[in-house]
Formats: sequence, structure tokens, C-alpha cells
Amino acid sequence: MDIYTQTDRYIADLLANEDDILNQVIRSLDDNGLPQHSVSANQGKFLQSMLMACNARKVLELGTLGGYSTIWMARGLPKDGKVITIESDARHAEVAQKNINLAGLADKIEIKTGKALDILPGLIAKNGVFDLIFVDADKPPYAEYLELALQLSRPGTILLFDNVIREGKVLDKQSTDEKVCGVQRFNTALAADARVTATILQTVGAKEHDGIAVAVVNYPKS
Ligand code: SAH
Ligand code: DHB
Ligand code: MG
Repeated sequence: MDIYTQTDRYIADLLANEDDILNQVIRSLDDNGLPQHSVSANQGKFLQSMLMACNARKVLELGTLGGYSTIWMARGLPKDGKVITIESDARHAEVAQKNINLAGLADKIEIKTGKALDILPGLIAKNGVFDLIFVDADKPPYAEYLELALQLSRPGTILLFDNVIREGKVLDKQSTDEKVCGVQRFNTALAADARVTATILQTVGAKEHDGIAVAVVNYPKS
């Protein structure tokens, strides 16, 4: 185990212990042939802390997989809080729903099955406004997800985007990898966007070297 993985485990043992439910979610991915693309335990705790910091009652997630990150977030919500999570793969959504039921969070989490680009306009039409939005679906349309997320935001909404560094492959301007190109386009758009105050946290540890973009929707200038 390299020093980053060991240190990630040290932090998780102290601060992000996974209970039986979260362990079961991770196992359910292998059992059902789903990819191990969940956030790490420490990243789950980070998401939970961020939504508690902004008193979030309404959270939106793009990309549910088995519901691992969804469960971390829902556990940080107040009684009347809710996560809407969008998943394009019906099989993933089915596994996630079982996990969410097992976690006793069925009343706090609503899975919408379909492609995010098809579902988000409906939420916008309903004047949906979220306190925190976590984007973790397919990478090529990340820049479009930023635009749509901003339409579902208010000043102070926190926007988080997973996997925007991709083992440093974002440095390669010649990359032809569609995921790398997608997050490069997103990172450039984020940096140019005057509507948000943003940074990227580089992450190492149990998962590959990567990064999470953190953006806060600006308040009107006084
Ligand atoms: N947030 C999860 C991991 C998500 S992995 C966690 O940390 O536990 C990415 C998920 O996005 C996969 O389940 C994939 O099926 C889904 N996905 C891919 N394209 C999508 C799209 N266009 N709309 C919604 N979900 C999509
Ligand atoms: C991939 C997607 C993810 O959301 C992630 O956290 C890691 C990898 C991927 O599609 O490669
Ligand atoms: Mg991810």
C-alpha cells in the first residue's frame, strides 16, 4: 500500500468509519457487476460536511451508481431534507434503491432514472432550487452540467464536481480521451465563469489521483 493509501486509511479510521450499510453498498457493486467508482469514505464525509455547513435541505446528485455517496449525503440532512439523485442506468438505479431501503433512507432519497440532460430541464421548469449539487455522472457533458446546475441554484448554492483532474491527464492538451477532454472543457468554463467563486481540491488516497471542483454561486455585488 502506498503512503497516500495508507494515509487515506488513517484518516478514514479516525473520521470516516464505514458502518455495515456502507460496506454492504460497496459489496453490492461487485455482486452486481457495477464499477467501483464510488467516492472514497473520506470524500463521502467531505460531501456530508459540506452540505451540513450550508444547512442544506435540498440536494441534487448526478450519477447515483449504488447510492454510496447518496447515503453519505442523506445522513447529513435534517429531518425534512431530501436528495434527488439522477441515474441513467436502470440496473444501477435498482441496486441503489435496494441499498437506500436497507439504509432506512427511502423517505429522504428520490432516484430519478434517466439521462441527466433529459431530466434536468424538467427540474428547471419546476423552478427547482438546490442548496448543494454534486455532479458525478458521465464526464463529456460536465460543462453542460455546470450551466444546468447554475439554473438550479441560488446565491450561496454549493456545486461540487468529481473527477476533474483524472490522474493529472488534464495537463495533456493533446489528449483524445473523451473523459479528459470533457473535464478540461469544464475546468476552463468554470475558471471563466463570473457567476461562481471556485477552486479545485486535488485528491490522493484510496482512489486514483484526481480532484473535486468546489464552486459557490456568488451573491449579488453590493
Ligand atoms: N456518485 C456515485 C458514483 C457515480 S459513478 C458514488 O460516489 O457513490 C457514475 C454514475 O453515473 C454511473 O452509475 C453511471 O451509470 C451514471 N451515469 C452515466 N451517464 C449518465 C447520465 N447521462 N445521466 C445520469 N447518470 C449517468
Ligand atoms: C470514473 C467515474 C467516476 O465518477 C469516478 O469517481 C472514477 C472514475 C470513470 O468513468 O472512469
Ligand atoms: Mg466520481
